Amino acid sequence: MNQEALVEVKNLKTYFYTEEGVVKAVDGVDFEIYPGETLGVVGESGCGKSVTSLSIMRLVESPPGRIEAGEINFGGRDLTKIPEKEMRKIRGNDISMIFQEPMTSLNPVYTVGDQIMEAIILHKKVDKKEARRQAIDMLQKVGIPLPEQRVDEYPHQLSGGMRQRVMIAMALSCDPQLLIADEPTTALDVTIQAQILELMNSLKESYGMAIMMITHDLG
Ligand SMILES: Nc1ncnc2c1ncn2[C@@H]1O[C@H](COP(=O)(O)OP(=O)(O)O)[C@@H](O)[C@H]1O
Ligand SMILES: [Mg+2]
Repeated sequence: MNQEALVEVKNLKTYFYTEEGVVKAVDGVDFEIYPGETLGVVGESGCGKSVTSLSIMRLVESPPGRIEAGEINFGGRDLTKIPEKEMRKIRGNDISMIFQEPMTSLNPVYTVGDQIMEAIILHKKVDKKEARRQAIDMLQKVGIPLPEQRVDEYPHQLSGGMRQRVMIAMALSCDPQLLIADEPTTALDVTIQAQILELMNSLKESYGMAIMMITHDLG
């Protein structure tokens, strides 16, 4: 197959400049992800998995962090070089990310429906009524029972597994080409972990996005 890579990471180096010295969190990483492909990234805790994914999203805390060298080619552009304004359009539109602990990414004072609707309105330019309809539809797609009811609940009213499903719904609401999942099941019970992985796999089939799946768990 002579298909073009969706993302091409070349010699990526992301360093942190701390009082104790330079932490070379990512030091010369190369990989490619092809459209519709799942790339598994496995490595022990602290080896630089999160910093790699945050670098792709350009969400590395700076200072102290900095992308020191390398290229992240996506859609014909090098994400390490484009202005922040351009990057904001890519984030959530073309590339979405879900994190280990959904409580840190969900806002406790808004209903899950409001948060999914905000993402939908921002990226799809639809009105509130249509966004609500799509939010309920997304909750249904990620396997949340009684979505018409759940849509008006707050994050703390949901279990950890349900919250992670909401995060997946938000991440997919804009139909990204790449979904970065940084240890999406680490905080969950083993049985729920299997359900979430199965869900992501089936959503990948129907949405056709590529997934960068990060874990420290070889199993
Ligand atoms: N804000 C930061 N300041 C200093 N060092 C950091 C910062 N964030 C991450 N690091 C360091 O970068 C390295 C890689 O971290 P990380 O990518 O989070 O690992 P993991 O593979 O567990 O996701 C670790 O040594 C970590 O301590
Ligand atoms: Mg990590």
